[in-house]
Amino acid sequence: MKVFLNVVVVLLALVSLEEVTSHGVQPLSKIAIEKAVIALDNKAFIKASPSVLGVNEENKEWITLTYSSSRPSINDWIGVFSPANFSSSTCLPENPRVGPPYLCTAPIKYQFANFSNPTYKDTGKGSLKLLLINQRSDFSFALFSGGVSNPKLVSVSNTVSFANPNAPLYPRLAQGSTWNEMTVTWTSGYGLDEAEPFVEWGRKGGQQIRSLAVTLTFDRNTMCGAPARTVGWRDPGFIHTGFLKELWPNSVYTYKLGHKLFNGTYVWSGIYKFKASPYPGQNSIQRVIIFGDMGKDEEDGSNEYNNFQRGSLNTTKQLISDLKNYDIVFHIGDLTYANGYLSQWDQFTSQIEPIASRVPYMIASGNHERDWPDTGSFYGNMDSGGECGVLAETMFFVPAENRAKFWYSTDYGMFRFCVADSEHDWREGTEQYKFIEHCLASVDRQKQPWLIFIAHRVLGYSSTDFYANEGSFAEPMGRDDLQKLWQKYKVDIAFYGHAHSYERTCAVYQNICTNNEKHYYKGSLNGTIHVVAGGGGASLADFSILQPKWSIFRDSDYGFVKMTAFDHSNLLFEYKKSRDGKVYDSFRISRDYRDILACAVDSCPSTTLAS
Ligand SMILES: *[C@@H]1O[C@H](CO)[C@@H](O)[C@H](O)[C@H]1NC(C)=O
Ligand SMILES: *[C@@H]1O[C@H](CO)[C@@H](O)[C@H](O)[C@H]1NC(C)=O
Ligand SMILES: *[C@@H]1O[C@H](CO)[C@@H](O)[C@H](O)[C@H]1NC(C)=O
Ligand SMILES: *[C@@H]1O[C@H](CO)[C@@H](O)[C@H](O)[C@H]1NC(C)=O
Ligand SMILES: *[C@@H]1O[C@H](CO)[C@@H](O)[C@H](O)[C@H]1NC(C)=O
Ligand SMILES: [Fe+2]
Repeated sequence: MKVFLNVVVVLLALVSLEEVTSHGVQPLSKIAIEKAVIALDNKAFIKASPSVLGVNEENKEWITLTYSSSRPSINDWIGVFSPANFSSSTCLPENPRVGPPYLCTAPIKYQFANFSNPTYKDTGKGSLKLLLINQRSDFSFALFSGGVSNPKLVSVSNTVSFANPNAPLYPRLAQGSTWNEMTVTWTSGYGLDEAEPFVEWGRKGGQQIRSLAVTLTFDRNTMCGAPARTVGWRDPGFIHTGFLKELWPNSVYTYKLGHKLFNGTYVWSGIYKFKASPYPGQNSIQRVIIFGDMGKDEEDGSNEYNNFQRGSLNTTKQLISDLKNYDIVFHIGDLTYANGYLSQWDQFTSQIEPIASRVPYMIASGNHERDWPDTGSFYGNMDSGGECGVLAETMFFVPAENRAKFWYSTDYGMFRFCVADSEHDWREGTEQYKFIEHCLASVDRQKQPWLIFIAHRVLGYSSTDFYANEGSFAEPMGRDDLQKLWQKYKVDIAFYGHAHSYERTCAVYQNICTNNEKHYYKGSLNGTIHVVAGGGGASLADFSILQPKWSIFRDSDYGFVKMTAFDHSNLLFEYKKSRDGKVYDSFRISRDYRDILACAVDSCPSTTLAS
């Protein structure tokens, strides 16, 4: 304790916490850690047990805290710090100075001292159960008085750590750059000077081979601003990606992650499995899940500020319970809402692990991943909390030519997905516009009839209130240029997030429904169906009072979409709520190849009458 106090007191450098201004206020940003003062009280204590976690190789474990304060108040709270020596990092001078910086690091989670103990304010005694995940470092727990806005450090606990904090963790699959390649990305504490990372994999029950994995990491200087550069910074460890190539379509593979230490010892993850992707055009049943804006939440109830992302755990739970019934997931932007509190990316990859280790987890970039002033994002706001895309682009693999320009195409059997990056300019004449046109134009619709466009912000149609108030019913300039591409290349369905709700349009072109059908489309759509699936978990948005003609189903609730392609002619679309997994909206498309070829307004070049 004494050592700790000394370290805290000598810290002199500057730090500041910039308020994250956006619809998603990261709960950790409510804590004015830069104002924290030291007020250690010898009569107070906080103890954590057990002190060693993961002795049976668990990646997460519950711990129990017991604590006591001589001057309790309902504002007292407990911060979880990791590394345990939470004043150890050097405070960096950054932007405008806010206050004398006693602590340089935000907690990785927090909870009020009275959470499980309504009598705490009278007795000063309490206990609390918290769930910790392995995130490469030890933990300590600190009791604060003064609320989250004027924290006074009263007591610090013993240190708790995982048996192997460096263990390979949280594998996430993603489609590679060719149809028969799967990538697996994971996080560990082993750098290249300690161990060789690899994946041991092969067909289930067959011979297993080893493929060396590549390793990335980044440092504080890669962050563009606060809090990512300051109190939100946390060492990201090492992010490894293995490339599993020349897979046999639809075959089941098993894999495990390994690190060969230089003294000859191997460290292994558990064993996982996945099903290889189908050949583009292959006629087999193919099931796709799409949602945006899920965020993360804590099972132990911590960090609960303003019901930040209470839908997130329900969505995750539904998807885990239904794992056998889909093949690939698209989480189309606004992944963690870490907003510059880097620890939250570990929590997020831990939350989705049962899904992402089993099926490709494809992501798109959203405002909360990318936006930061003067960094080339199309929007100059601070929604990424200083991350400016680095976390999303490193923690997840996508088959983009340049991951900093987050657009890519990927094929899944009869589907072609063109994934745009709404945080970079998409208008005609831009690099991204060329990519989108190329992606849409280069697909053989006889083989891959189901053509899907994806972007985080609503570039198509939405009657959520903030878009309705703009008058554009979409991101301003959203569809001005893109609608001619969607029409010319006959995009079937376009998906968006950003608006936290579900909405489906008619098949539409230039604001006009091109098809009067609502549930069973036969033949040509003559336009594109636009779907907002932004109800993954972040706090819900409201709709405009008036429902535009093109809007045929709206629901302000948590949910996700599932598409099932039965063959080249039949597609089922379903919207399910996260609370029960039941279908609340659906439609079918039944059509033949000639219906795709058929010309609608602006969808075919003019023909000549010459014989
Ligand atoms: C516990 O503390 C919080 C935060 O100060 C407060 O809002 C809540 O009313 C308290 N609950 C009880 C039971 O005292
Ligand atoms: C905390 O970290 C600092 C800097 O890394 C170090 O000087 C100090 O001894 C550490 N304190 C404890 C209690 O380990
Ligand atoms: C190799 O190093 C690891 C980690 O330091 C240690 O746990 C292990 O016992 C060592 N193995 C040998 C054979 O020295
Ligand atoms: C699609 O457009 C074509 C040509 O404009 C028209 O003949 C056809 O009836 C339209 N289909 C539907 C379902 O509206
Ligand atoms: C999560 O699901 C449960 C029941 O399945 C429901 O009672 C609860 O309201 C849901 N939470 C949210 C935030 O929708
Ligand atoms: Fe968003």
